[in-house]
Amino acid sequence: MSAFGDEMRRQTFRIAVATAALAATSAAQVRDTAIPQLRRQGTATQLVVDGRAFLIRGGELGNSAASDLDALRPVWSRLRAMGLNTVVAPVYWEMSEPAEGRFDFTLVDSLLADARRNDMRLVLLWFGTWKNSMSSYVPAWVKTDQTRFPRTEAVAGRGQEILSPFHAANWEADARAFRALMRHLREVDAARHTVLMVQVENETGMIPEARDHSRTADSLYARTVPSELLAYLRAHRDALAPELRARWEAQGARGAGTWEEVFGLGVHTDELFMSWHFARYHERVAAAGKAEYPLPMFANAALIRPGYLPGRYVSAGPLPHLIDVWRAASPSTDFLAPDIYFPNFAEWTAKYARSGNPLFVPEARLTAQSAADALYVVGRHDAIGYSPFAIENASPDEGAGAALARANALLAQLEPLIVAHQGRGTMTAVMPPVSFDGVAEESPQRVALAGLDYVATVSFANPPGPPTTAPPGTPAAAGGPVSFSPGMPGATLPTAPAAATRPLAPRGAIVIALGRDELLIAGTGVVVTFAPSTPGPPIAGILSADEGRFVDGRWVRGRRMNGDQTHQGRHVALGVGEFTMQRVRLYRYR
Ligand code: DGJ
Repeated sequence: MSAFGDEMRRQTFRIAVATAALAATSAAQVRDTAIPQLRRQGTATQLVVDGRAFLIRGGELGNSAASDLDALRPVWSRLRAMGLNTVVAPVYWEMSEPAEGRFDFTLVDSLLADARRNDMRLVLLWFGTWKNSMSSYVPAWVKTDQTRFPRTEAVAGRGQEILSPFHAANWEADARAFRALMRHLREVDAARHTVLMVQVENETGMIPEARDHSRTADSLYARTVPSELLAYLRAHRDALAPELRARWEAQGARGAGTWEEVFGLGVHTDELFMSWHFARYHERVAAAGKAEYPLPMFANAALIRPGYLPGRYVSAGPLPHLIDVWRAASPSTDFLAPDIYFPNFAEWTAKYARSGNPLFVPEARLTAQSAADALYVVGRHDAIGYSPFAIENASPDEGAGAALARANALLAQLEPLIVAHQGRGTMTAVMPPVSFDGVAEESPQRVALAGLDYVATVSFANPPGPPTTAPPGTPAAAGGPVSFSPGMPGATLPTAPAAATRPLAPRGAIVIALGRDELLIAGTGVVVTFAPSTPGPPIAGILSADEGRFVDGRWVRGRRMNGDQTHQGRHVALGVGEFTMQRVRLYRYR
């Protein structure tokens, strides 16, 4: 074993020991006084809570669920049974400030109490000026005073129920309320850290036209592009989102000019203009809140169907092609986050993980695939967490909720190891990417990790060889989802079809290098073969493959996998419908 491998082994061991020691100490004794914050580790950004990197195993409540906490009370035990450690919940402006200047945070206080009783953290969503582009959550005293609180206008001069981002009265009212919320959170939670992060607004953007056509908007549109934005473009030219860079460079990468001179004429420029002003508005609200209590803050976006132009989707929001505009306009927004309701999950997460944007998925459609997606984002993109929507409707006993529970159980065990490996190139995750149309691309994928002397090839087809058996007591053993089907014996894997249909069961795994010749594979429905990637004997063999689990951060070995379970030493397989992990040691021969 090389020095690097030895060091990695020592590191893994140290993590295990430290975690076990922490678990043995009471939470109060180790509580860090610093509030939840973001911290870089290598190329990753982690959420640090009570002094430790924290992975959010979340679920977002449906929009109205947090307005009647009595009705929600029976749900908490189900959320716990699904392995959640965090609930993502709205706070409504209309209910927090029913009369101007009279704040009422009793709902927030009850939510905090319920979360604490259930040993759960919270991410709060500020349903303030905008919710899915509209302003339906503003208080009645705002809704009914269109003169004081101006709205956007469609091209026909028709008002919209969308508060204008151009008027100080609007952002001052929102910022005052948000500031009051954050002050309240500081007072009731700065010592407990139940609330981890806050989302400012919800899916801000313009629809059905890409920009406001009010007189104010028209006159601002005719002015020059703010110098802060142009300075940002110049300073970050090489790292700009490719779509924005192309648009700017197509006009000569100008350092001054009107919106149309700098970006050209058309709906894309309408969108850029609105994007700057929406993000400035977010900045005013977020900065006011952070002045009271500087929790990490983010903005979320509704995504885009293929081929849609600005105006047809919720435009100008915190979308990946607009990340630089949002960054330049709103330094208090720590990251942008995708709400992923389309099947092409891997594609969107890759776009949001660009240029160092920390990835957190606050909303996603809960499907059978969610269990694989949850593993994928933390392993592949060092994500802070994953949180499917309308979680109160899911059940830990069946369907997507049951699969999510099993993925979360893996994540809970692996958390110390995952956070130790984030940002270092020693961990990844694989799953068959699914297209917008729902077609899974199941070709095998190669995995190379820093510090590992082997490449792994992960395939998602059922493996050759006799059927494996699930360990006694697991749902698969009890007649749950199938494990492997019989196939022809052989030393090579069949090539998977180039494109298969939508996967029936989630498939995917996190792969972590534990040393030069040792790795951990955790997930479901994968078959893994190995080949050496450094000089030496050319064939890889399996020295040992142990199923197991982490208990308080310590590895506890289960079955020694061999014989039929490794196809007589040819591969490592994690059964479809099972969520398991194996610690694998490799050797090489000629
Ligand atoms: C995205 C929004 O952010 C959520 O609040 C909710 O409206 C979902 N869409 C879908 O219902």
